[in-house]
Formats: sequence, structure tokens, C-alpha cells
Amino acid sequence: MSTTDESSQDQKFFNLFMIVIGALISVTVVLIFVARAIAADTQLAWVKEDPAYTLAIDERIKPVGFVALPGDEPAGGAVAVVAADAAAPVAAKLSGEQVYNTACFACHGAGVGGAPKLGDAAAWAPRRGQGTATLNKHAIEGFQGKAGYMPPKGGRVDLSDDEIIAAVAFISGS
Ligand code: HEC
Repeated sequence: MSTTDESSQDQKFFNLFMIVIGALISVTVVLIFVARAIAADTQLAWVKEDPAYTLAIDERIKPVGFVALPGDEPAGGAVAVVAADAAAPVAAKLSGEQVYNTACFACHGAGVGGAPKLGDAAAWAPRRGQGTATLNKHAIEGFQGKAGYMPPKGGRVDLSDDEIIAAVAFISGS
């Protein structure tokens, strides 16, 4: 066999070899896409619906805590009861002091705009002299006095009359 024959034989073999390799690569690529298409309808869907899988997700994204109201079942023992007050039913009436702290303190704490201060007996004595009914009325309906303007319910019209009356009793020391 001459050297030329041998090299042309090698060339043929190489060409054939490359064709086979090319065909195998094409088949592999096609198989990958077919497998992906099938998995999208089957395997992925099954995994997503797997109760153990969804449970694991729920476990990971659950809130770190929640406020327990009376009647709630304690869940898993990891219940943070914020405070005795917070555990009261949401609709529960606020006490006079609670109303004062949330709605009246802004003015009556420091005497803003002429508001008589909490605990200022000299300021409250003449006002109490008008009678509790008048004080309540002024607090609920609002009141323009000589010292300044008292807005209806201190601006918190969402509070009930009873809550305001309790706050008046607390604030005026009666
Ligand atoms: C925006 C400021 C402001 C807020 C908030 C506010 N008050 Fe007043 N309040 C006043 C001022 C000013 C007066 C004094 C008015 C005057 O006598 O001229 C006053 C007066 C009063 C008086 C006396 C009324 C009278 O007849 O002498 C009562 C009672 C009262 N406030 C209760 C409350 C209660 C209860 C709250 C909370 C629910 C509250 N106020 C929130 C400004 C405020």
C-alpha cells in the first residue's frame, strides 16, 4: 500500500467518524428537548402537587409569629402573646387611659394649643365645675373655648362616646 492510499483511507475514516459523531450529537440534543417537554407536563407538575413538597414550602414561608386572641388555638407552642391588653378581643372597649394615650395625649400631654394638661388640678377644677355632662359633651362634640379649640373626640371620631367619656373621667381626674 502506498502512502497516498493510506492517507486517503485515513481521510475517509475521519470523514465517516465526524458524520457519526455529528449524528450522535444531534440525537442527544433532540432527546434533551423531548425529555424537557415531557417533564414539563409530568414530573414538574407532580413535584409541585406533592403534599410533602407544598408542606415544606408552607413551613418555610409561614409567619414567624402571630397575635393570639382569646379563643385562638395555640399553634405549635410558638405563640407570642404580646401583652395582656393585646390579647383582649379587638372590638373591646378601650379604657379611659388607653384612649387618652392614643387620642388625647398629643394635646393634653404637654398642653398644646391651650389644652388643659393631664394631672393639672388647677386647670381642671373649674372645668369640672361645669359638670361631667358638659365636659363629656364638649369632648364628644368638640368645643371652642377661651384657651383653644378642642376637636370632636380629639379627632378620633372612630371612638365610641363611651370611650371618650371614660377618657374624660381619666383626663379630668374626676
Ligand atoms: C388637637 C388637640 C386636642 C386633642 C387631640 C384633644 N384635645 Fe381636649 N382640648 C383641647 C383644647 C385646646 C382644649 C381647651 C379648650 C378651651 O377650653 O378653650 C381641650 C379641652 C378639653 C376638655 C375640657 C372641655 C371643657 O369644657 O372645659 C376635655 C374634657 C377634653 N379636652 C377632653 C379630651 C379628650 C377626652 C381627648 C381625647 C379623646 C382630647 N380632649 C383630645 C385640645 C385637644
